[in-house]
Amino acid sequence: MDLPQLPVFETELLRPQTLLSSLAILHALAAQLAVGGGILAALFEVRGERWGEPLLREFVHRALAPLILIAAVLALVSGVGAWLATSLVAPRASLLLGREFIWLLGAAGCSVAFGVVCGAAYLSRARTAPARRRWLLLGGFILGTGLALLGVEGVLAFRLSPEEWVRTGDAWDGVLGAALAPSLARRVLSSLALAAVAGLIGVERMQGLDESDRRLLARTILVVLVPLALMPMATIGLLGVVTEADGPAPSPWALPLGLAALGSLLVAGGALALLVRGRSRPGRSIVVGLAALVVGSAVIAERARETLALPYDIRGVLYANGLTPEEVDLRRAARPRPREGVAREEIQRGRQVHRELCARCHASRGRSSIQELTRSWDREMLIGNLAKLHRLQPSMPPFAGSDPELEELVAWLLWTRDGGR
Ligand code: HEC
Repeated sequence: MDLPQLPVFETELLRPQTLLSSLAILHALAAQLAVGGGILAALFEVRGERWGEPLLREFVHRALAPLILIAAVLALVSGVGAWLATSLVAPRASLLLGREFIWLLGAAGCSVAFGVVCGAAYLSRARTAPARRRWLLLGGFILGTGLALLGVEGVLAFRLSPEEWVRTGDAWDGVLGAALAPSLARRVLSSLALAAVAGLIGVERMQGLDESDRRLLARTILVVLVPLALMPMATIGLLGVVTEADGPAPSPWALPLGLAALGSLLVAGGALALLVRGRSRPGRSIVVGLAALVVGSAVIAERARETLALPYDIRGVLYANGLTPEEVDLRRAARPRPREGVAREEIQRGRQVHRELCARCHASRGRSSIQELTRSWDREMLIGNLAKLHRLQPSMPPFAGSDPELEELVAWLLWTRDGGR
């Protein structure tokens, strides 16, 4: 793998990686709302037709359709934004991903655009068009957003389980890696949960309904919460893939993801109980609690994914500092640099080490800077701790420099601590 060295993007306000994961989380939530919302809308259309209940269709047109269309557009825009941010924060990784999967990412983008066009046509024609045409347009929306989810999921799953691709170099092996099935299953379930929450809020807020109308709507929405009972299985599958690759140590995300999965199981049980009991619907406070649980779990899951596979950490190929394993070995084996004994040059080199190995995740000043994080450490602690970075924080790559470089980095840190710039 022959990748060029590229400049590093630095901000003082926030860790570049934080910018990237915020965009990625926004993108994931919007995309999931669009996909799940499309499925929910289809369920309403089908039931409305079968039961001859105009209210079900009315709800889709007034509440669901505008929401999922906005979500799909937001997903498209934030997806492009996340990709641009990846190119700034981790240019080498985005080059690698682009080179391998450009066709897939391009197809996913076109597919969402197709979905958005179908969704807009559906929304504008929904009141007048005959059933066949409405179903065709809604089907186009679901197909477009669904295929895009599948494509993007393939690239994301590749980051979690790149082993087969590393062995064969075939992009399909990357996309169809071990993480794809459990990861996709979690996403689809989470999409349904988000759409159900949005739907239930819509039922609460829609004007001019009586209690039996609201019950009818809510009970159709509860149906899509029942599959959430499969969440623990999908989560165990995903953690199995990730933990296996990382060695026997349990992932730091096992607990939060496990709790979120358990929450999903409870939600599924609650929805089933309400459906069986027949005459009740979730009250307002339950809807609020459910919304917090579902959105919270979705954010936890996205954060976990970002940490488990930072976009620039491709196991065995590219470390999270943008260096290949061979380059790390070369750096470590390099002959110690001559020590001129001139402190100024040592500090200069320390600054350079920071730029090369740390700057993509730590600004050189401010809250996320190493200076702030190590404020209370003395020289001995700095030397000792920085030598085993990956033990301090599982999301950090191992220190990739030589011993003299570590000393230079510490010299620069101490110098800036004394007010040097
Ligand atoms: C891939 C991203 C990444 C890279 C590269 C990286 N770090 Fe970090 N580092 C983190 C994250 C995430 C944390 C968690 C603390 C936080 O929220 O800022 C962290 C925390 C730290 C801490 C505080 C640890 C603790 O337990 O208190 C130190 C010290 C640190 N990094 C030093 C470095 C040094 C030195 C380098 C370069 C040689 C480096 N890091 C490179 C992501 C990174």
